[in-house]
Amino acid sequence: MSFKKKLSAGAILVASAMAQNPTPPVPAAATPAEPPARRVRPQAYPTRPPADPAALARGRALYGVHCNFCHGSDARGGEGGPNLLRSQLVLSDRSGETIAPVVQNGRPDQGMPKFPMTLAQISDIAAYIHSFKVGGYDISRMVPLSILVGDAKSGAETFRSKCGSCHSVTGDLKGIGARITDAKTLQNNFLMPGVGGGFGGPQRPVLTHVPPTTVTVTLPSGEKVEGVLGRIDDFVVTLRQTDGVTRSIRRDGDTPKVEIHDPLQPHKDLLPTYTDKEIHDLTAYLVTVK
Ligand code: HEC
Ligand code: HEC
Repeated sequence: MSFKKKLSAGAILVASAMAQNPTPPVPAAATPAEPPARRVRPQAYPTRPPADPAALARGRALYGVHCNFCHGSDARGGEGGPNLLRSQLVLSDRSGETIAPVVQNGRPDQGMPKFPMTLAQISDIAAYIHSFKVGGYDISRMVPLSILVGDAKSGAETFRSKCGSCHSVTGDLKGIGARITDAKTLQNNFLMPGVGGGFGGPQRPVLTHVPPTTVTVTLPSGEKVEGVLGRIDDFVVTLRQTDGVTRSIRRDGDTPKVEIHDPLQPHKDLLPTYTDKEIHDLTAYLVTVK
């Protein structure tokens, strides 16, 4: 856990170094005596052999359905997920081995969902991500991002089939398009409800009363401690009991036993099942629900 944190902190450092210095200065012709090694770009971008076209095609399809809507069509982020091309973790990946743990476990508290994918699928996605040019400017960046590209009519159908069992646009989600007028915010709300500022952006408005995540800790003595989950990491779990008392309990591997009950789990489990088109259609539909 803390290892991952270090990795992503490293990625942020790299990203900000690159943002300040997007084109490393070309060594001036006046310094020819400089030993060649010193002229190597500070970010040694991995040069990669061309990928198998079949793997690339599979990777593109998977990425398009599952990753595109957060990490952007060119993997440069901006749609809720970070830029993957500048991620140290992605830069040091060869064929999915460092990407796989992130995809398979997710980082749910940071807004990165987990996907039940095989290593072969992730290796294909990795091949696709690695096929982008890391440096330079991508022409696709010039196209203004619009997320209202969907079809509201098919969105209404999708809503009936995928959301209707739990929600209604005349009930709990009444006037959703009027209550949240920014389409991007609205989309993030239904994709990852309850993830406050989890997309790295400002705290999102909350539409409905999202019940809190609770936790049950079974101590070695058999005593069960229950409450609203405060935070959890590899070392400690913090919860608030119904009597208002906050308790922090040390963790060591699987002791004590910790069970997390996220009322949004069924909703979150839907995430990997949407296609890009369904997401766009749903957003186009929901903005019309005034
Ligand atoms: C709902 C939005 C969302 C979706 C969908 C999504 N991601 Fe992410 N992803 C995120 C966020 C947010 C983070 C940053 C998490 C953090 O801060 O640690 C992230 C982080 C990552 C990282 C780690 C980057 C780093 O430097 O630490 C990788 C790799 C990644 N995502 C790959 C993928 C892949 C591959 C897919 C598709 C299978 C995918 N993501 C789908 C939101 C998303
Ligand atoms: C299995 C039940 C279930 C399904 C299916 C489901 N949701 Fe939810 N959704 C919930 C629960 C539970 C909440 C938490 C708030 C509540 O209790 O109303 C929620 C919350 C939301 C919120 C509010 C988020 C916020 O920040 O306030 C939106 C918007 C939403 N869902 C949209 C959708 C859409 C769109 C679909 C279909 C693509 C969908 N949901 C499918 C159970 C479900």
